[in-house]
Amino acid sequence: MEILVNTRMHRRSFQKLALALALPAPLALAALGGRSAGITLAQSTGPTATPSLAPTPECDDDDLAATLPQTAGPFYTPESPERRSLLEPEMPGTRLVVGGYVYNTDCQPIPGALLDFWQADDAGVYDNQGYRLRGHQFADEDGGFTLETIVPGLYPGRTRHIHVMAQAQNEPVLTTQLYFPDEPANAADGIFDPALVMDVQDADDGKVAFFTFVLPV
Ligand SMILES: [Fe+2]
Repeated sequence: MEILVNTRMHRRSFQKLALALALPAPLALAALGGRSAGITLAQSTGPTATPSLAPTPECDDDDLAATLPQTAGPFYTPESPERRSLLEPEMPGTRLVVGGYVYNTDCQPIPGALLDFWQADDAGVYDNQGYRLRGHQFADEDGGFTLETIVPGLYPGRTRHIHVMAQAQNEPVLTTQLYFPDEPANAADGIFDPALVMDVQDADDGKVAFFTFVLPV
């Protein structure tokens, strides 16, 4: 039953996040449904469960496994602007809202955790001169975050992914990448790891994704 309690807490928190950020209603509603899907996966072994979904943390007596680190790749630019939305006028691509939480391995939220995201545009191109599709933010008092962006495009040699650095205050930086389920290029990407696949749901005007970061602190 503990997980159900946590589910309610998370749904309330995300609702608050969505309202605070004035997310489009379809995305916010789909987001809440998406969280439920994650809980269902954690409790179900039935045929409807999709193995590629990221598991929802269960806050029991066991420590959470820390999120896997991955390479930053060659396209990181420091000192990105602080913003929750990377969208710009006329930016092509499928809208994507990524929501989730930052926990420590004791399953406690990390308010104020830094998350620095960067990704390719719809055509698979990074902006290495400026800060297009780059931005950092700090988790709220519940450890929650919301990133408004587009689905990144593909570029040669890689599957679809979003780069991120995550850091609790005065702690080491975790560098990793987030992936999408059911991507044909996942299997051929030597960096891809299924543990870093987000829980992605379709929404009326885009997609909503969930991921929980667990920092080794
Ligand atoms: Fe990349």
